[in-house]
Amino acid sequence: MIESITILPGKNKFGITETFSRIDIYPGEIVGVVGPTGSGKSALIEDIEQLAQGDTSTQRRVLINGTVPDISMRFDPKKKLIAQLSQNMNFLADMTVREFLQLHAKCRGKDLNLVEQVVYHANTLTGEPITENMNLTVLSGGQSRSLMVADVAFISDSPIVLIDEIENAGIKKHLAMELLSGKGKIILVVTHDPLLALLTSRRMVMKNGGVEKIFNTTTHETDLCVELNRMDRELFRIRERVRLGEEIVA
Ligand SMILES: Nc1ncnc2c1ncn2[C@@H]1O[C@H](COP(=O)(O)OP(=O)(O)OP(=O)(O)O)[C@@H](O)[C@H]1O
Ligand SMILES: [Mg+2]
Repeated sequence: MIESITILPGKNKFGITETFSRIDIYPGEIVGVVGPTGSGKSALIEDIEQLAQGDTSTQRRVLINGTVPDISMRFDPKKKLIAQLSQNMNFLADMTVREFLQLHAKCRGKDLNLVEQVVYHANTLTGEPITENMNLTVLSGGQSRSLMVADVAFISDSPIVLIDEIENAGIKKHLAMELLSGKGKIILVVTHDPLLALLTSRRMVMKNGGVEKIFNTTTHETDLCVELNRMDRELFRIRERVRLGEEIVA
């Protein structure tokens, strides 16, 4: 059972110690990571992925439930608490969606009936329908990403999910986050997208490889996020219609 993860300060690229004392994150929370290119967002996500103990370039330490995690948690894939969705992931296997999901469910000791559920939910995230007998290699970027999100939600089902930039995939981001966070997971999302950044409860602002500050999302920002989400849905709807060769009227 994960009750919390804690990030303890390390050093930025200039060797200066980060100014926060500790950052505790609890299940059900979505935390954003923002900052310019090269500011250290991916490095922070990787520290968590590796459960760093002062042994990465940032020298940060990561605790689980307030203590140093067991060494087996760091290196044994069966004990992995963490699922990561990174921008450059693609399916390479020559098998169908069904075969892949069944194999994965089996490896994870999960019910094979989950396959249907994963495909169903993946289809709520993308405009291009995915069927179980499609080959993985023919899936578009949006379809692959939707399938990965649904897989992480139902089959991988790790309590901690790290997402490095979901925005360019052309999927319903808001729904994807709901699907992932609904199950009491801890989610960290690296993003340049205001829709996702304002969806979080707080965001870490990165600069020169260190956490510069931590913002709590304001009520104004949360209201704005609702409006941005409405616009995003509309954009998604129009994009799909344009792609289907339809004329957009009113
Ligand atoms: N605290 C640090 N100490 C030393 N090196 C660091 C630190 N933080 C990040 N780096 C290094 O700086 C480089 C850029 O960092 P990183 O890839 O994390 O940036 P990013 O914010 O993810 O950028 P992008 O938006 O382009 O993905 C990497 O080589 C990373 O290893
Ligand atoms: Mg990065």
